Amino acid sequence: MCGIIGYIGNDNGVDYVLGGLKNLEYRGYDSSGICIINNSSQTNLIKQVGGIDKLVQKIKITKPNGKLIIGHTRWATHGKPSTQNAHPHFNNDRSIFIVHNGIIENYLEIKSKLTSRGYKFISETDSEVIPNLVDFYYKKVNSLSRAFRMALSDLKGTYAICLVSTIEPDKIFVSRLGSPLVIGKTKDKIFVSSDPSAITNKTKTVSFLNDFDIAEVALKKIKIFNQKGNKVSSAKFETISHNDSQNNLGDWPNYMIKEINQIPEVVELAIKGRLGANHQIKLGGLDDVSTQLEHIDRIVIVGCGTSYYAGLIGEYLIEEFANIPVEVELSSEFKYKNEPISRSTCLIAISQSGETADTIAALNKVKDFGVLKLGIVNSIGSTISRMTDAGVYCHAGNERSVASTKAFIAQVTVLSLLALRLAKTRNKSVDDLMEDLLNLPDKIRKVLDQSEQIQKLVHKYIKYKNFLFIGRKYNYPIALEGALKLKEVSYVHAEGYSAGEMKHGPIALIDKSFPTIVIATKGDLYKKTISNLLEIKSRGGPIILITNFQDQKIKNMVDDIVYVPESGEETAVQIISVALQLFAYYFSLALGKNIDKPRNLAKSVTVE
Ligand code: G6P
Repeated sequence: MCGIIGYIGNDNGVDYVLGGLKNLEYRGYDSSGICIINNSSQTNLIKQVGGIDKLVQKIKITKPNGKLIIGHTRWATHGKPSTQNAHPHFNNDRSIFIVHNGIIENYLEIKSKLTSRGYKFISETDSEVIPNLVDFYYKKVNSLSRAFRMALSDLKGTYAICLVSTIEPDKIFVSRLGSPLVIGKTKDKIFVSSDPSAITNKTKTVSFLNDFDIAEVALKKIKIFNQKGNKVSSAKFETISHNDSQNNLGDWPNYMIKEINQIPEVVELAIKGRLGANHQIKLGGLDDVSTQLEHIDRIVIVGCGTSYYAGLIGEYLIEEFANIPVEVELSSEFKYKNEPISRSTCLIAISQSGETADTIAALNKVKDFGVLKLGIVNSIGSTISRMTDAGVYCHAGNERSVASTKAFIAQVTVLSLLALRLAKTRNKSVDDLMEDLLNLPDKIRKVLDQSEQIQKLVHKYIKYKNFLFIGRKYNYPIALEGALKLKEVSYVHAEGYSAGEMKHGPIALIDKSFPTIVIATKGDLYKKTISNLLEIKSRGGPIILITNFQDQKIKNMVDDIVYVPESGEETAVQIISVALQLFAYYFSLALGKNIDKPRNLAKSVTVE
């Protein structure tokens, strides 16, 4: 939610900042803005409702330049998307400018204190209190550095802040608490960003800030302080690897379809070096905790959105193969529950971005319980990957489409590997799953070859306003995920349900205007799911069956069938999910929606 960029360098940085903001647009895209301070301390503030392309158009007119710049792309929390609510925000005499990600929970209190001292506010945001509070303290202590620290200690909530000022036009002041910030440097430029992937085309030398760090970033020196003003350290830089080709569309019309088509390679990368043709599992990220892993007797998985659904699949996989009891909890619920947790419990946090506020809060909750904390994270170096004791990276590459596709498949692949790694006995089903995982990329390629057929199917169903997705066992979470994908990108109402629960309510919805997508794969539960299908049929509901079983008897009983390549039930999950992702994609395309950036959503939910 909201992306931040800061720049300080020897040459004009406007294009760098706009490029960085474009890369951060997935974090919010309802309004944007930049503040440029030039050599003679003149400021140029440009704000705009809408995405970065609109900001670029506006900037082209005046062609400003400067060597000290902050920029922001917003996902509105306090106040509607408007030019006044867009960042950067500034103090009353326009000498201090800030961009902020997070929520200042006590902003009303601060606002009323400042208002009583004569400060005026022009936006509805919580963020606007920050430059004014810094101003208030600056007038008392005459040091921007101290004023910034004093203001920070008054703030309650979460933040990543970049501040620039005409008072010291050679520095960016930054701080974070519960919201990510990274500093990147080259010989003559320094960048600050919410996400390293936004600046890796400029530098791969980065330093991740920790909560409560306060950095004063000047070209010659970067100093890190704690809130008391003690200099704790100079910034520690590391080199990160990052494939920048993930940050451009190439010949693809949008990121969602590009990323769906990357899935076969993503699966190959997720299993590369971890599952060999000799059927050995090696998860290097868990080596340091292998003794602790021997002793766990319960697993709690936490995640949000699509990552939560991956967790539900993980529950089936781990219970089936490793025989360890698993519970899956929404991070937003887990963090407020009084759940008994013993030291032999392992908490697994699943997150594509590694920055989701609720999942971070879930990890913080168990911080002092002495439990093993594992991460299944895609974004390398992210907060969750650094908070956990150990983990397994998804290696799906940067995911730009707000609706998660390739990262979800990678999460499920990693969970399959984890279940196999935790399995204590080696039997035929373990070997079958390993073989299936090795063959998975080619089977997914076959689903991608059916894209045109799925697009035609979408055109047939485009008139419907409601959809039900049902399945049993592994196919239940993918029914939930298939429905989520459709509603996220097309705004069409869709419900995911366990096929076994149909009779307990949802069947009341069925009539000829309410189609059901039934997911039934070859195996023990095929017949039971088909019984549910027939119950829907008898009530006049249109049916699309997605299956990997060539069952002649069913052909005339359904309206449409999508056949996917045959596999064991555990990997059918990924194969069918790709078909459902294509269904959602073509639905959104046919309705002319903003596929990569659906309304009201953001990719990285860094506020509660
Ligand atoms: C947002 C995104 C979803 C994602 C969820 C969890 O809602 O739009 O695509 O599944 O956050 O994010 P995470 O980064 O923790 O997987």
